Amino acid sequence: MAEEILRITGGRKLSGDITVQGAKNSALPLMAGAMLCDSRTVLHNVPALTDVYAASRILNRLGFRCSVSGHTAVIMPGEGGTEIPDEEMRAMRSSVMFLGPMLGSRKRCVITMPGGCELGPRPIDLHLDAMRQLGVQIREQQGRIVCQAERLHGTRIPLPFPSVGVTENVIMAAVLAEGETVLTNAAREPEITDLANFLIQCGAKITGAGEGTVVISGVKKLSGTEYSVMPDRIAAFTWLCAAASAGGTVCIRGTEPKDMESCLSLLTAAGCRIGICRDRIYLDCTRPLRNLRYIRTMPYPGFPTDAQALITAVLATSEGAGLIEETVFESRFKHVGELLRMGADIRVSGRTAVIYGVPCLHGAEVEAMDLRGGAALAAAAAGAEGETVLRGLSHLDRGYDHFAETFNSLGGSALRRTISTAVR
Ligand code: UD1
Repeated sequence: MAEEILRITGGRKLSGDITVQGAKNSALPLMAGAMLCDSRTVLHNVPALTDVYAASRILNRLGFRCSVSGHTAVIMPGEGGTEIPDEEMRAMRSSVMFLGPMLGSRKRCVITMPGGCELGPRPIDLHLDAMRQLGVQIREQQGRIVCQAERLHGTRIPLPFPSVGVTENVIMAAVLAEGETVLTNAAREPEITDLANFLIQCGAKITGAGEGTVVISGVKKLSGTEYSVMPDRIAAFTWLCAAASAGGTVCIRGTEPKDMESCLSLLTAAGCRIGICRDRIYLDCTRPLRNLRYIRTMPYPGFPTDAQALITAVLATSEGAGLIEETVFESRFKHVGELLRMGADIRVSGRTAVIYGVPCLHGAEVEAMDLRGGAALAAAAAGAEGETVLRGLSHLDRGYDHFAETFNSLGGSALRRTISTAVR
């Protein structure tokens, strides 16, 4: 058996500039949203990711014609089944986002539970409850969840938690429903605004996206359009964190700095100098950094859970101690065990981690347990002494477009190699 690894040689300052990729968390719902259109949709700035290819496979399985070439996805309407095969549901954990647009366009969708998850249990109860409120009948049949409706009707849906995926699913199910849907306690992530802007360009009537209350007035049909995926704020933060960990001066182009305020203010508080000019974020970091007393992850505009592992990696080498509380997911500290192998001093208890900053980390053999955890290990490796061998690259490939090449273009040293697992 063969396995791919990344050999990262740490201890070099990072410098240079890169353009950030399109956002994974926007590209995926946009591809799902294209199912609602009765003509061709062209998406630009789509990142080259395994999750994007998985989404494309699902669209084709459902009878749409989707092709992804370079950074462009073309989606044509089509006819076909309403069942997402179990293997596809497991391949991409966010496959549940096809539920809303399938119900909106075909009034029927059969799914299975998205696979066992790396971030703790990831139930879909809120998705199903919201669909029920729109008039969908749901029954379980031998492990399959069969959702169907004669017609979808607008209603008031108060969300118990501002879930990103549920907010997107409700918007996509409601755009072609009869009447008006008022979604309260909606998630306010910028990717939701991007989805709404795309759908509005297709002819949907949506107000309030990006705010706590979203109002969707059903229309009869949507037409395809050309749209460019927004920049990836977590990927941008990843490169800033790699530079903060290694020290150096970098510029990330093509960003939307206002979407990243909570992230940038933490790096500033830790001692990095941040400059912003239009779509460019500059970071100048002279180590050592200061630890931060207390950070907690929160729905947007709070500090994102997707950035938690990254800031943990940066603060692993800092002066002083600090506490991070993870409030969004139950089990999101798997990267900590790997950082300990690199010499970090971090203690996890339930949903909190206390980071005792150490002067530096050293290279080690570590494994990405999830997407952002893997990126955090690479960021830590950038600043560590010696060589780190990073395994579990399939996680990284789900969310980063050419990770090693981007890292190297900032002056890092990452070599992707295939090794025989027998010699591991
Ligand atoms: C999205 C992002 C993911 C990010 C997360 C939180 C995409 C493709 N993924 O995931 O990168 O980490 O937002 O910002 O955009 N929950 C339930 N029942 C449900 C749905 C969610 O209990 O039916 C819980 C989850 O277990 C979790 C919390 O709600 O604890 C937040 O999840 P949610 O906002 O739905 O995240 P996703 O949309 O899955």
